[in-house]
Amino acid sequence: MSALTLGTVMQGGDVGSVGAIDPRKLNRHTFWCGQSGSGKTYSLGVLLEQILLHTSLPLLILDPNADYVHLGTPREGADAAEASALAGLDIRVRSAGGRSGSDPLRVRYAEMVALARAAVLRLEPLRDAAEYHAALEVLAESTQAPNRATLVTALLESDDPARQLLGLRLDNLGILDWDVWAWQNRSAEDELDDRPDAVVLDLSACAQVEEPAAVSLAVLDHLWRQREQRRPITIVIDEAHNVCPASPDTPLQRALVDRVIQIAAEGRKYGLWLVLSTQRPNKIHPQVLTQCDNLGLLRMNSPADLAEVASVFGFAPRDLLDASPSFAQGQVLLAGGFAAEPAVVQMRDRICLEGGADVAVPLSPRNPSARLREPT
Ligand SMILES: Nc1ncnc2c1ncn2[C@@H]1O[C@H](COP(=O)(O)OP(=O)(O)O)[C@@H](O)[C@H]1O
Ligand SMILES: [Mg+2]
Repeated sequence: MSALTLGTVMQGGDVGSVGAIDPRKLNRHTFWCGQSGSGKTYSLGVLLEQILLHTSLPLLILDPNADYVHLGTPREGADAAEASALAGLDIRVRSAGGRSGSDPLRVRYAEMVALARAAVLRLEPLRDAAEYHAALEVLAESTQAPNRATLVTALLESDDPARQLLGLRLDNLGILDWDVWAWQNRSAEDELDDRPDAVVLDLSACAQVEEPAAVSLAVLDHLWRQREQRRPITIVIDEAHNVCPASPDTPLQRALVDRVIQIAAEGRKYGLWLVLSTQRPNKIHPQVLTQCDNLGLLRMNSPADLAEVASVFGFAPRDLLDASPSFAQGQVLLAGGFAAEPAVVQMRDRICLEGGADVAVPLSPRNPSARLREPT
């Protein structure tokens, strides 16, 4: 298997040579880190394109900002062979919240494990024992969308105080109305079961603040439940501090963090490999961070953050870490299992279109007479 060519070595290795990684070492977890605007999402896109082109490793991408919705749509001027190879792949994009022209992102509530279903309802098994129990009984088998009004009325009229509380909870939280529930429709889990080249789950337009976590938990639980099948997949999580924060503060986040910790600790042997991207190492749960064997470090100015990276990733040479504050955009220190030797690489150009690029500052003058003088 050939190495994945990511760019050009700038420091550390043989300066000017090809910067590459060993795809066989993607059977470890990877940490991709750098301050906001350093080029994490762009450079991760370069890595993902190379994985798609040169391996048959399927990707699941949890995409909070719709950055990867055009993976598979080559940009003008891209190398023709690479462009047509990428365009020919089976890349399925599912968007929450009805991005125009895209297929809807939905997951199966009924297939989530009991704890996860309760966590969506913000229920804790011991603190809310009676209501938790009622919720499992009432919602266990719902593969059809329950009629909210009918269900809530029936619960409120029940003799069981726990059911009455559950009725109020369902009504107040509006969870049955969330757009992301598949009920009897096709779901993201169904897409994953097909193992296409990539499944991109665009979470950027979720209407409810807890929907991205619910979707993430549903698909990660699904992959975990099937772990004995040992079908390899790379799970890419951009802005990973939303999925495995160091200090989760809702039942849903706690359930999600527990699942990611388990995948980080035990997923490798089942072929569940994480690629986690974030701005600061201490935003990620330490039990996840310390399981990563591959490092991609972009520009990072904060000495405290660099010290944390140095302490977790002892294999990264201190002089290259110390150079990080002066990295140009798109320069990445690649170190750990997937790098033959640690080196700073200027990443190559993307093949595909980017999604949510930075928003430009509107610069047109406010003075209408000045605006009239602008060239049309
Ligand atoms: N290597 C690069 N070449 C060209 N543009 C880049 C490169 N890296 C980043 N950019 C651009 O800079 C902006 C910020 O990059 P991004 O990857 O979104 O940063 P981050 O994810 O670290 O916040 C984006 O508009 C992106 O298109
Ligand atoms: Mg980003």
